[in-house]
Amino acid sequence: MNSDNHINAIAEQLKQARHCVVLTGAGVSAESGIPTFRDALSGLWEKFRPEDLATAEAYRKNPEMVYAWYQWRRQLISDTEPNAGHYALAELAKRVERLTLITQNVDGLHQRAGSADVIEFHGNIFRNRCFAENTALAPDTTRSEKPPLCPVCGAMARPDVVWFGEALEPQVLQASAEAIDDCDVFLSIGTSSLVYPASELGLAARSNGAVLIEINPQQTPLTAVCQFSVTANSAGVLPHMVRALKT
Ligand code: OAD
Repeated sequence: MNSDNHINAIAEQLKQARHCVVLTGAGVSAESGIPTFRDALSGLWEKFRPEDLATAEAYRKNPEMVYAWYQWRRQLISDTEPNAGHYALAELAKRVERLTLITQNVDGLHQRAGSADVIEFHGNIFRNRCFAENTALAPDTTRSEKPPLCPVCGAMARPDVVWFGEALEPQVLQASAEAIDDCDVFLSIGTSSLVYPASELGLAARSNGAVLIEINPQQTPLTAVCQFSVTANSAGVLPHMVRALKT
């Protein structure tokens, strides 16, 4: 049910929330023209094998091919703009008592739309770090497909994103866990809820008594445990929801 009543009921939950946690995934950037990972036909993992492009082992085996793929994605993202959903979430932060935005997206579009203090669960594609020492390196502003070298130790740079099989940054996990422990409303938007540990956040919020709301055109493993489920694209429905908060 996506009637105005449904949107108004969600707006009411957001108005009453003491601390709202929003978790976003690739679907939020889909309407900016950035492919998701798992959507049939258009998803990146429908065309490419994650084990060839998103693991440390793949990078060790074929750094230039993997780095070239990230340079292609960086260019694709640079050519896009935030969409109405990103802007609505930046606006939502001003209208609720407290909001923590956690994103699995590495594209930086929330920040470009004006969201502050975004928790980047899976890193940021524009940053590089040293593949040997993990230290932060300058962003690569070239279009070169060859990985730049760390100026300190000479090892290759790597994109500062979390690859399959890798642990998340401890500060990221800590900040997310604190927000989840404290939240009374949890909003899951544009994520398939299939990738651990992001997939656990909604469930943890739910066991702490938070109200769960999902916005996604498709059903996900979280849908069944949500009190509110909006079957729609985020760029369409989020501005509508934020407008409903004003009334
Ligand atoms: P997925 O590609 O797994 O899921 C995207 C979700 O967005 C799906 O549930 C779609 O139904 C939904 N969707 C598509 N278009 C939408 C729209 N216009 N509005 C709202 N929702 C829409 O992407 P994630 O859940 O983000 O990891 O994937 C999680 C992680 O898996 C990613 O962060 C990435 C990937 O491997 C890393 O890069 C480390």
